[in-house]
Amino acid sequence: MNKPCSKSSIQRGEIVELLDDSRILAILSPVSQQRLVHLDVLDTVDSTNCYAWTQRELEGSYACLAEYQWAGRGRQGRQWISPHGSGLCLSIRHPYLSDVPLFPLDGLSIALAVAVAQVLLEFGISGIGLKWPNDILWQKRKLAGLLLESNHKKNLREVVVGIGINVKIPVTQKINPDWVDLYTIQGNATISRNLLAAKLIDQCLETLITYPHKGLTAFMPVWQRLDLLKGQQVTLLQGTQHLISGIAQGIDEQGALWLKTAQGSQRFVCGEVKIQWSS
Ligand code: BTN
Repeated sequence: MNKPCSKSSIQRGEIVELLDDSRILAILSPVSQQRLVHLDVLDTVDSTNCYAWTQRELEGSYACLAEYQWAGRGRQGRQWISPHGSGLCLSIRHPYLSDVPLFPLDGLSIALAVAVAQVLLEFGISGIGLKWPNDILWQKRKLAGLLLESNHKKNLREVVVGIGINVKIPVTQKINPDWVDLYTIQGNATISRNLLAAKLIDQCLETLITYPHKGLTAFMPVWQRLDLLKGQQVTLLQGTQHLISGIAQGIDEQGALWLKTAQGSQRFVCGEVKIQWSS
């Protein structure tokens, strides 16, 4: 069941700023206020991506956020786990009409990762990097991830981008040393999740709208600056069994990863990268 969200709560003795649709809408840029046809803030939902797909008959962009997802989805069929109120679980659904040029989804997913990274940089979160295709890391630990889904029928192509960011994971949940949250990065300073949500919606809507016309070119300088893989010895897992080792050489204009392997340079459009960090 999807429950509406109240405005504040106390969890484990600490006041938590709950997500608030009217605050987010008020902070959105004027252009986003025009572009977004509706925003839902939910307390509990299976997955904001699933919920966004169920919203029918919306002529324009739609966004939803939830305090808690009981079936949050990650890339490669993984789960996305985020305790209540501890993260940002945001999905934006955007329709492309037939007059918009067709574009590679892999490139859009890269552009959106750059967009999310730019928002975090604007919040003063330094030291972040990007791991192909769209993970955001801080000191080799995962801070955020994106899940891009699409649906193409008749003259309409729609995408849902799901963004998960660890904001303040309860101490009792901090069991995985490979993960990190904004609260830890910022030396125990709390950031406003409503402000973060609004800035993410602004930046992602702009990216969703401009990417088909501009391609990845405009996003490449930031990607190259934040690319954590380039020059690293990596292993790419394709499917459940196929492993390819090589040195990452960066991405191309379609968003594909190039690896220098024993067989020469090879191009990859999907897979999960493991890094053997050299430093
Ligand atoms: C990943 O790194 O594997 C991608 C994680 C994406 C998680 C977000 S949280 C909001 C949206 N709803 C989901 O079910 N998943 C995405």
